[in-house]
Amino acid sequence: MVNARPSEQHQARILLASNRGPISFTVEDDGTLTPRRGGGGLVSGLSAIGDEVESVWVCAALSEGDRAATRQGKLGDPSVRMLDIDPGTFARAYNGIANSTLWFVHHLIYNTPTTPVFGASFRREWTSYEAYNTAFAEALAESAAPGATVLVQDYHLSLTPRLLRELRPDLRIGHFSHTPWAPPDYYRLLPDDIARDVLVGILGADRAGFLTRRWASAFADCCEAVLGAEVDRGSGGDRDVMTVTHEGRTTALGVHSLGADGDFLRERSHRPDVDSRLAALREAVGGRRTVVRVDRTELSKNIVRGLHAYRHLLRSRPEWLDRVVHVAFAYPSRHDLPEYREYTASVLRTAQEINDEFGTPSWQPVLLQVDDDFARSLAAYRLADVALVNPIRDGMNLVAKEVPVVSDEGCALVLSREAGAYEELGDDAVTVNPYDVIATAEALHTALTMPEAERSDRCKRLASASTALPPSAWFLSQYRALTDDQA
Ligand code: G6P
Repeated sequence: MVNARPSEQHQARILLASNRGPISFTVEDDGTLTPRRGGGGLVSGLSAIGDEVESVWVCAALSEGDRAATRQGKLGDPSVRMLDIDPGTFARAYNGIANSTLWFVHHLIYNTPTTPVFGASFRREWTSYEAYNTAFAEALAESAAPGATVLVQDYHLSLTPRLLRELRPDLRIGHFSHTPWAPPDYYRLLPDDIARDVLVGILGADRAGFLTRRWASAFADCCEAVLGAEVDRGSGGDRDVMTVTHEGRTTALGVHSLGADGDFLRERSHRPDVDSRLAALREAVGGRRTVVRVDRTELSKNIVRGLHAYRHLLRSRPEWLDRVVHVAFAYPSRHDLPEYREYTASVLRTAQEINDEFGTPSWQPVLLQVDDDFARSLAAYRLADVALVNPIRDGMNLVAKEVPVVSDEGCALVLSREAGAYEELGDDAVTVNPYDVIATAEALHTALTMPEAERSDRCKRLASASTALPPSAWFLSQYRALTDDQA
């Protein structure tokens, strides 16, 4: 199942494990493979460790190109180990369990009168999720030097820490959740045995990290409610917020917030490709005010209610007619899942309804784009008068942190109180209950009419809070917390 080439792999002192790796491959028409390097917190974090420590990043082959590169030994980077997991097993684990079950539970996005239904096909998916987690644990066990440090990432890999500990008790193991964590009542939608397995899986780690104290507390609450584990909310020590003890083992819970990479964003957002997109956007907007949002087309991002709120603003405050444009960039995500395809259709439909209701020959109230263009997103950040970030629930939400950093003139931030970023940005944002579209419309009005000096002051404070913990610091803090108390 796994690419079995351990002899070609070095034994590393530090290992990362995540579903999505730092590199992906596309098969060109002539059969050649084109690699593409990704960015993000893990990539810059790992480079902050430096080359002197040997590292291995274990990830899954996600595309046909990835599989081909893995099979042909063409990854071109000895520090990346891509697992060529059987496609059916992978799909059931990634789509069925990770993205349709655990993601839905942690973001509270089930439509509970009809979903979830945990029947026979779910059990088949769960078996695949176990196999997928086992493949990661085995690859990590094989690639780790004695006493190495392993950082396991996210809900795709919640069973891996425990499985790895069974194989290699000498390792320091950390797990980090990039998502929120569900409160116990909602978490207990999961079948009892699976609710236990997920918690016990993560508790196989020495430390479990979360983006905010709220998500760490929810995890501890679930350990108490589901496992009867002992939670010490005052103990942790300097770096840890609490500890959970279950069946004689203690796991520390840590909080590591993730900020925006200010240096990178400021430089990248002034390159020519962004300038040209900014010019095109300015022309389309025609001197009107802008409400900007940029998201994956993701159920938890609450794009449709954001559009409803904007429609309510136009209906309830006609002074905004022809004076504002909602720039909404929603790039494709997880389209193997029918819910995501339907959601994208509903975003398109709602935007069209608003344009039909209010548009004139010279004014298009919503500019919606559903393809991915990073340079264009940065151009929109620069132009934004108001950034709308209204998720139902979100581990952190980096867009909320990026727009204030990049904004040319200073923007106001309308922010959901259910985003992890709210803990750090709530004071200078206009905050909303994401379900309340009338209140969100009012918040948009408040943000659009915020006096310029106030907006600029708030934006400066938002930018500075947003960049306080850049990705490299985020990564190093979890790495150090895991290795420092090793003595
Ligand atoms: C969230 C998750 C990440 C994931 C990303 C994109 O941020 O926490 O683990 O990689 O979404 O989702 P995808 O399914 O495309 O990897």
